[in-house]
Amino acid sequence: MEQRVLGRTGRDVSVVGLGTWQLGADWGDVTESDAFAVLDAAVESGVTIFDTADVYGDGRSEQLIGRYLKDRPDAGIFVATKMGRRAEQLPENYTLDNFRAWNDRSRANLGTDTLDLVQLHCPPPAVIESDAVYDALDTLVDERRIAAYAVSVETCAEALAAIARPGVASVQIILNAFRLKPLEEVLPAARAAGVGIVARVPLASGLLSGKYTKDTVFAADDHRTYNRHGEAFDQGETFSGIDYETGLAAAAEFGELAPEGATAAQTALRWIIQQPGVTTVIPGARSVEQARGNGAAAGLPALPQSTLDAVRDLYDRRLRASVHGRW
Ligand SMILES: NC(=O)c1ccc[n+]([C@@H]2O[C@H](COP(=O)([O-])OP(=O)(O)OC[C@H]3O[C@@H](n4cnc5c(N)ncnc54)[C@H](OP(=O)(O)O)[C@@H]3O)[C@@H](O)[C@H]2O)c1
Repeated sequence: MEQRVLGRTGRDVSVVGLGTWQLGADWGDVTESDAFAVLDAAVESGVTIFDTADVYGDGRSEQLIGRYLKDRPDAGIFVATKMGRRAEQLPENYTLDNFRAWNDRSRANLGTDTLDLVQLHCPPPAVIESDAVYDALDTLVDERRIAAYAVSVETCAEALAAIARPGVASVQIILNAFRLKPLEEVLPAARAAGVGIVARVPLASGLLSGKYTKDTVFAADDHRTYNRHGEAFDQGETFSGIDYETGLAAAAEFGELAPEGATAAQTALRWIIQQPGVTTVIPGARSVEQARGNGAAAGLPALPQSTLDAVRDLYDRRLRASVHGRW
């Protein structure tokens, strides 16, 4: 699979990675054997970057990855984890002492002395603007607890603030065919600064696959049931912040743009990969079939300009009014 340098980490990662929120919680049950099978399928398809967080399943996602990699020391997998959501979302909790404690736990979960990358996990905006926070992160690098740091953000303004910091290796942001605003300023700024871009929620929580209907029922412990209106965390993380029925109609239209031989989900991933400035896209997968299908998207031919124009038109007509001003 094509590899790209992840910004200031200087490390190569695959253009399609694996999001592992699904291996923790918030998406209904995924058994341990299913989780290992998903990791295997991703690696076999050429994936070399896993995205996780210390809070996914309260550490389960990190622990599963740690155990998986323990048996495969030469797999060459880059693990991007996150910290910051084990405490109340107050700027005063983003201290060096807390960072060290969270870091100790993630290193134990992942079974490594030095984390490849730690991303601040969508912190309050004041944290992204704080010199003291970046000083503390530099200290973690000096202590070799982490090789590099990054910021996962909700809004384009937050992304631009993070990109302006000289030590930030990459920025993680929601970018997909239903969320086009990062194309305007964030991707050009990241390219100019040499900061990597990790595109998350690439399938709009699965909507872009076109497989749901108005009668689809998600599990009670799936955020697509309990966070549709931002009840538990930022609304933008669930279906990209799009009203479900609006999203179904947009997804039906998007599906018609899939080239022969590609699924709608693969088309959605391919669309992201070819946006200038994107380093990697991290779809979450809950099954071996999904992991394989997502990996295969990296090998599809580039989408023609007519498809890119059609995506833009779809967004402008159906979605822009509800999401563009918000994130
Ligand atoms: N704040 C943050 O930093 C943050 C927030 C959100 C996500 N993330 C990261 O980004 C990753 C990706 O985002 P996400 O998982 O929220 O959303 P996503 O990748 O847009 O959607 C994942 C869902 O799409 C469906 N899917 C995946 N592959 C498919 C395929 N090939 N065909 C059909 N359907 C497919 C599955 O739905 P079903 O379960 O219905 O099968 C899966 O649960 C996460 O795993 C996590 O690592 C980070």
